[in-house]
Amino acid sequence: MDRRVVTPDDLRRARAVLAETYEAEGAIPGSPVNHELIQLNLQHTDRVQRAAQAIAEGEGLDAALLELAAVLHDVAKLDHRDTTSGGIDTWHHHHRGASAARKIVLADLGKTGSVADSIAAMVERHSDIPFIRRYWQNVYAALLPSPRTPEEFALRDADVIDMLWVGGLGKIVFFRQIPGSDFYSEDGGDIQKAIASARTSFIEAAEVLVFPTARALAAPRMAAAEAFCAELTSVASRDEFGEAYHGFLKRLDASRL
Ligand SMILES: [Fe+2]
Ligand SMILES: [Fe+2]
Repeated sequence: MDRRVVTPDDLRRARAVLAETYEAEGAIPGSPVNHELIQLNLQHTDRVQRAAQAIAEGEGLDAALLELAAVLHDVAKLDHRDTTSGGIDTWHHHHRGASAARKIVLADLGKTGSVADSIAAMVERHSDIPFIRRYWQNVYAALLPSPRTPEEFALRDADVIDMLWVGGLGKIVFFRQIPGSDFYSEDGGDIQKAIASARTSFIEAAEVLVFPTARALAAPRMAAAEAFCAELTSVASRDEFGEAYHGFLKRLDASRL
């Protein structure tokens, strides 16, 4: 077998290693990683893989390579063993994930160093979107590594598409309402400010999409998020936001998105 070529078997094996990695994080006594969080992350990964495949096919890129990067892009997302806080440090997962992905590609899949290098670079460079970039500048006074190759841009596009929907917007707003969370002070717990800044984060993230195929996939999701925002003008509390959010999702045909 050609060790330079990524096969469907490699994708299945990588997906299994990803699940094992997440389960191992959850199995540590006192771990903040629970079953629900693992499932959410696996579902996100599967959607990003499908988007990556669609972008690769639409844009004439190497689909198997891009799909493998998608499967492994958040491999370090639930990593809490290397953090001093013992909590999940999502801000560094692109960097930790690059070295974890490199090891998996070499040791578990038996691919060449050049395949491992490509995957590691894609993983390392997938997090560079405006609101994460701003966080890095404010907190670490550092830049995030940016995509350079078509495949690196395509992986970031696939990941961003999954964020750009009503659920992604809801997650940002809820996150910003939790005292002690990284974004809380930005909004001071004011729900309308949280909605407005989440919407800005959305629009900024959509602007980084590079490929026409990615923009086309994102368009109906963005339209739904905009329709949701239009219903939120009189929301005055986190509870009211929650009601509006669940009501909107019930009416929305999420299978389209
Ligand atoms: Fe990520
Ligand atoms: Fe992701």
